Amino acid sequence: MLYKQLSPEGQDGKGLCNLDFVDRYADILQANLPNKFSDFDRFFSGTQRLETLAAILKRHIQEDGLTVLNVGSGPFATELFVERLQKQQVQSIDYTPEFAPFYQLLLNEGYIANTSFEQVDVMEVEFPQKAFDLIIIHDVLFEKALEMETLITRLSPFLKPGGYLYFDFINSRTQWVKRLFGRHDQFRYYDPVKVKGFVTHAGFEILSFEATRKAHSWPIRVLHHALQILSRGSGNYSVLVQSKSRP
Ligand SMILES: C[S@@+](CC[C@H](N)C(=O)[O-])C[C@H]1O[C@@H](n2cnc3c(N)ncnc32)[C@H](O)[C@@H]1O
Repeated sequence: MLYKQLSPEGQDGKGLCNLDFVDRYADILQANLPNKFSDFDRFFSGTQRLETLAAILKRHIQEDGLTVLNVGSGPFATELFVERLQKQQVQSIDYTPEFAPFYQLLLNEGYIANTSFEQVDVMEVEFPQKAFDLIIIHDVLFEKALEMETLITRLSPFLKPGGYLYFDFINSRTQWVKRLFGRHDQFRYYDPVKVKGFVTHAGFEILSFEATRKAHSWPIRVLHHALQILSRGSGNYSVLVQSKSRP
């Protein structure tokens, strides 16, 4: 089947693509996710979740044909809807078995043909040194079981000199306000100042460090607005850095 890449009607002009496939993608998720994951169809097909990543990559990455590692790919929403990934060679990994079948299901639909997939734990996987031009860790570093510095230190040898690393995280400075609103934290938080210090010390240049745009119901939007005012910062940050050691 031909690879359905970048149909013009499916692009938003800001970095998302294949948006004409969103409804069908949501149907595929709903039909194939096991019961314990039943709410995830709306989560993963909510493409506004990907807007900040898509916009940052569109702004900073002009090259095609890059080798990309997508860490914790889930059911491949990033590979489907982020325009700047369409003409790259993407290696996706995720350790959750329930998401693995979506790889073949989406290939059958004519999408993600530029993607390879391996079901594996990111803390155990190995790649050749300097294998990737870009590593993406999108919507993953909230996991308690993954620690940012440990993960980035582990993945850094797989990045080419001059390669890019994208990640996002929840701001620890908003944690107390969340508690005030009765929100329980089953997530991992990071201090933006310490994150900046860590990536700089690890040999990266910061290209983008910005508030993550999130799609939410109005009560959650009010909460986020309150968080921003009270903690003088955003609830979530999206970061693109580049390895300083050029080839
Ligand atoms: C919220 S989903 C995000 C999926 C995708 N990055 C996206 O933005 O659509 C988080 C994903 O990280 C994966 N994940 C968490 N820890 C992992 C690990 N140690 N190794 C591989 N995948 C992991 C989970 O299985 C899950 O699919």
